[in-house]
Amino acid sequence: MRYDIQMQNLLKKLQEEATHALTSVKIADELRVFEVAYLGRKGKLTELLKQLGSLPIEQRKTVGPIANATKQSIADAIAHRRETLGVDGKTPSVDVTLPGIRPSEGHLHLMTQAIAEIEDIFSRIGFNRVRHPEVDTDWYAFGSLNMPADHPARDEWETFFVTAPKTLQTTNYKLQTHLVLTPHTSNGQVREMERGKLPIRMINIGKSYRRQSDISHVPMFHQFEGLYIDTNVTIAHLKGVIEYFVHQFFGSNRSYRLRPYHFQFTEPSFEIDISCDICAGKGCRLCKEGWLELGGAGMVHPNVLKAGKIDPKKYSGFAFGWGVERTYMMKEGLKIDDIRLLYKNDLRFLEQF
Ligand code: DAH
Repeated sequence: MRYDIQMQNLLKKLQEEATHALTSVKIADELRVFEVAYLGRKGKLTELLKQLGSLPIEQRKTVGPIANATKQSIADAIAHRRETLGVDGKTPSVDVTLPGIRPSEGHLHLMTQAIAEIEDIFSRIGFNRVRHPEVDTDWYAFGSLNMPADHPARDEWETFFVTAPKTLQTTNYKLQTHLVLTPHTSNGQVREMERGKLPIRMINIGKSYRRQSDISHVPMFHQFEGLYIDTNVTIAHLKGVIEYFVHQFFGSNRSYRLRPYHFQFTEPSFEIDISCDICAGKGCRLCKEGWLELGGAGMVHPNVLKAGKIDPKKYSGFAFGWGVERTYMMKEGLKIDDIRLLYKNDLRFLEQF
């Protein structure tokens, strides 16, 4: 009878069983139980080894070394596992050899991407990105822009006022008792003029706040405000810059239009519309009539230049202020038909971009 072959098979099976069982050992207490179950006085392997003695001497010679090797390998596996287990016998261990979980890769928010692109387009024609306060005084948000207190033109902005800190109230002569969450980035115009460096070619990109929320409005949104002041600046320059931007951002096939409008801080003034990409100019629930208003523009009013200590007889300039969100929504092929989608933080939406 070839007991040795039988024995070898049993040893092999036991080894496999032990290797498998060891994978579910998570804490030191379990490892101790495991060790006793295989190598203890009445352990599975010990019992097998006891039977070795009853084999004929020849067969014992072949199986002996195999049995020893099996014992050694189980003992080694136990020792190795012990090294990777928590010392207190209770904390489940981490097997660092298991494959890891790859964290999902994110990307910049759509508005951050849009702002970077806008900044880049304007930098190519010499407009520097600047930053001005997003909580500012009434003077920069309205007064300096030819809108004195109680002027009805202010009604166009539904504004959030906040009480100014006492320390600011005493040090800033233009501050009354309130600050305003800037309803537009135009507050940067006179602030930029006050830096005293001419010519000015700025692009001020920042947050704006208005008490509005619907399909095309959110209470916090972004604007980019361009300002160009130099000698002999004309509407032709304004049109050229707007056309350049439209073609860079939307492609050369998109139509836009300048529509006469009124702003207190520009004369003449325009609103700029872009042909709607959602409905291809047919009219839809977002744009209503095929065109979507992206912002305003015009030639800087002499009173604004004066507020910034610039002589309107020597210098002229143009300005424009556009919404970043609306501009981005009109990018070809995106078909984002509700501005609020941008701020819902729904990954099913965001991950498409
Ligand atoms: N500030 C205006 C708004 O938020 C937009 C605007 C119009 C900005 C004309 C300008 C401008 O710089 O010249 O509605």
